[in-house]
Amino acid sequence: MIQPPGDQVGVDDLSVHIPKLFLSAAGEFSSARDINPAKLTRGIGIEEMAVPDAHEDAATMAAMSLLELMKRNDISPEEIGKIYIGTESAVDEAKAMGTYVIGMLEKIYGEGSFQDCSTVEFKSACIGTTLALESLSYWAAQEDDGRVGIVIASDIAKYPLRSPGEYTQGAGSVSLLVKRRPRLLSLEKDFGSFTKDENDFFRPPGASTAVVNGKHSNFCYINAVTGAFDAFAKRALRKGTIRLKEGECLADHISHLLFHIPYPRMAEYASAAIFRHCWRSLPRWEEVEAEIGSEPKPSDYPSFDLFTLADADFGKRFARTNLFLEEFKAKVLDTTDISRRVGNIYTGSIYLGLASLIELRKLHPAERICFCAYGSGCSSLVFSGIVQPDASSLPSRDLEKRLDERKQIRLEEYERLHEGKMEKSILQPSEEFALLSIDHQGYRHYDYLD
Ligand code: HMG
Repeated sequence: MIQPPGDQVGVDDLSVHIPKLFLSAAGEFSSARDINPAKLTRGIGIEEMAVPDAHEDAATMAAMSLLELMKRNDISPEEIGKIYIGTESAVDEAKAMGTYVIGMLEKIYGEGSFQDCSTVEFKSACIGTTLALESLSYWAAQEDDGRVGIVIASDIAKYPLRSPGEYTQGAGSVSLLVKRRPRLLSLEKDFGSFTKDENDFFRPPGASTAVVNGKHSNFCYINAVTGAFDAFAKRALRKGTIRLKEGECLADHISHLLFHIPYPRMAEYASAAIFRHCWRSLPRWEEVEAEIGSEPKPSDYPSFDLFTLADADFGKRFARTNLFLEEFKAKVLDTTDISRRVGNIYTGSIYLGLASLIELRKLHPAERICFCAYGSGCSSLVFSGIVQPDASSLPSRDLEKRLDERKQIRLEEYERLHEGKMEKSILQPSEEFALLSIDHQGYRHYDYLD
């Protein structure tokens, strides 16, 4: 069913909060860990990782991105009907992070100003925010009192010191304004999912860092995203949202592919898997095979393990073909721009990709963007949106400038912050929310410091 414009729902604007401290991947860190810096900057694709200061947690970061979103759009608390927060860095086992966030915002907008707004936390590893966005879009479509919804992603990606996950850390928050007649992106409602019980990444109760089976997590990610892409494609084709001509595939109708970005190279691995999957049955595949040889088939190998090795090798060669490199450069590379300087922010990483496109002014009206979200454990959700005519009128967030103004910290300072041994903040909080104390009951006290 084609929706009349007034019923379109989607993302009207977004704001981003990144901590003011960062650790450089090359230099002190890479030499202390005895890693060739090129492995981090090229092999992983990371240059800098955002590090939260002693007064920051996922709730302060969420409050900061929400405050910016409200100020940018001159939204009053009474206009907000719902705040859904995607996070896997919960600050409490029972109390919703949104109640702390509302407490912080009420220090600015007045006590009780958010009383008629409900809030809930979505936990589903890195896909929590996307599932929150899907749910909130249904609410926004039905809302008949002019109110808007907010989806917030806020996380601190943390792995043990000296582990292979350490160079895929980061921190930050993204807030999305969800409403009817959005200025940025209207959602197309053909959601395709994939869910499977996996042990790729999980954090049992009480643990401060995740258990991660790194190589397996890459595999689960690709398998899930490919599965969800197929489900999305089937639905979009069946409903007529996308119509293919002879020799075309669904990816030909997408201008930008956004992936969950645990580290920038992962977006390359994932897009290579998607394009390979989409192109295999098209005439252009002949050009690929002419360049790198035939794709391995299980029946050509004496064991599945040998086939898997050959298939992985073919995948690497595919990722270097001219055809793939052109598509990657046109549709994916720019989405990793901010992540290279921030690292993984877990459930918000895919929306950092959207922020990269916006800040680089790469979005153009009527383009279709496809989101390929992934959360460990595991699930994937693939859906699309159409860039709206007013998208380019939204003021810049000056993210590159803000990233340039951050303070680089020493390895020793990073390690003390990581282990919770830094008693005072490295940068005195200024014009921001700060965690002041945690009392004897475990209740957290926050304030806005000028
Ligand atoms: P690793 O052992 O560092 O990986 O683990 P590697 O040895 O395979 O190296 C990575 C790449 O660097 C390879 O590139 C190397 O060749 C290259 P490729 O061969 O694949 O093209 N390399 C070099 N390149 C240039 N110069 C050099 C050099 N040396 C090597 N000198 C891993 C990497 C990501 C597994 C690890 O960091 C990790 O476990 N990270 C945490 C888990 C993770 O991020 N998984 C991603 C998928 S799961 C996910 O995204 C969900 C998540 O966000 C959580 C959630 O959902 O909540 C994690």
